[in-house]
Amino acid sequence: MKTFYPAVLMLGLFGAPAFAQATCEPGETVIKFSHVVAAEGHPKGEMATALAARVNREMDGTACMLVFPMSELYDDNDVMEAILLGDVHLAAPSVSKLENYTFQYRVFDLPFLFDDMDAVQRFVGGPMGQDLLDAMSDYGFAGLGYLFNGLKQFSASRPLLVPGDAEGLTFRVQASDVATSMVEALAARARQLPFEEVRAALQKGLVDGQENTWSNIYTAGFYEFQEEVTATNHQLLVYLVVTSKEWLDSLDSDVRLQFLSILGEVIEAANMRADGINQASRQRIVEAGGTVRELTGDQRRQWRSVMAPVWDEYETMIGVDLIDAAIAAND
Ligand code: SIN
Repeated sequence: MKTFYPAVLMLGLFGAPAFAQATCEPGETVIKFSHVVAAEGHPKGEMATALAARVNREMDGTACMLVFPMSELYDDNDVMEAILLGDVHLAAPSVSKLENYTFQYRVFDLPFLFDDMDAVQRFVGGPMGQDLLDAMSDYGFAGLGYLFNGLKQFSASRPLLVPGDAEGLTFRVQASDVATSMVEALAARARQLPFEEVRAALQKGLVDGQENTWSNIYTAGFYEFQEEVTATNHQLLVYLVVTSKEWLDSLDSDVRLQFLSILGEVIEAANMRADGINQASRQRIVEAGGTVRELTGDQRRQWRSVMAPVWDEYETMIGVDLIDAAIAAND
């Protein structure tokens, strides 16, 4: 029977212990899950904790999962290499950060592509979305599922109601060319920074603004340095739960089947909770004194239209069929 110890080194943003880490027993297959966000109050953090709880209970004696949140072990720049080296076994990076391996995931980054998360669910559940899970197999990766966060919002220390309000500002973006093009379409500057550096960059004024989901803006404390958040819902943040084919193939088939079955159920449950977690984060930002602005229909049309050229820029790299399938998921 496993024991658990408080993860004293894994303090949440506000100093509370994030969760209990398991103590693995000799003979158990250790599964390390490394991610970059908070363990609580976040769609990915809570999914990882829930997965570990189930693996450690239902596969006790066979497998043991350890979770390393908040870039404690690896950030998204180096976690993919760590997976191939077998130093960790699971990660769930934003697909936007996987441009080094495939351009196909850029479909998820096209601004204002998906109307809502139901459309995303339809696309990833369809044949093209499922095929995309294997887009990095030539590099030795196995995509195990899509984990949702939600749609992203722009913030700054001044109101952003029309695209012109962003002109001249510098926004932090993920390591993604599409995100960079999107910000440049606003006549603003984009600065690619790892997630763990964003809060300090906002605090020090190295960037003027950022774009992320409500749950990231809240749990990573970005809102503390951004008085104004606009509900732009302009781009998706979705994760690929990923491992190495070599590690997956090394598991006994019954162990692999049990693990993948638990993982599938946990991802499905997490995806159903993601929107609620984001709405709760939005509410907490308001309660903490942040201003959240809604766009009128006309303002939203202006943001869409300014960002439309990004689609043309990346269409050939992504593939028209893939884009059309994503658009069709909105119906
Ligand atoms: C994450 O949600 O995993 C981080 C995304 C980011 O780098 O903004």
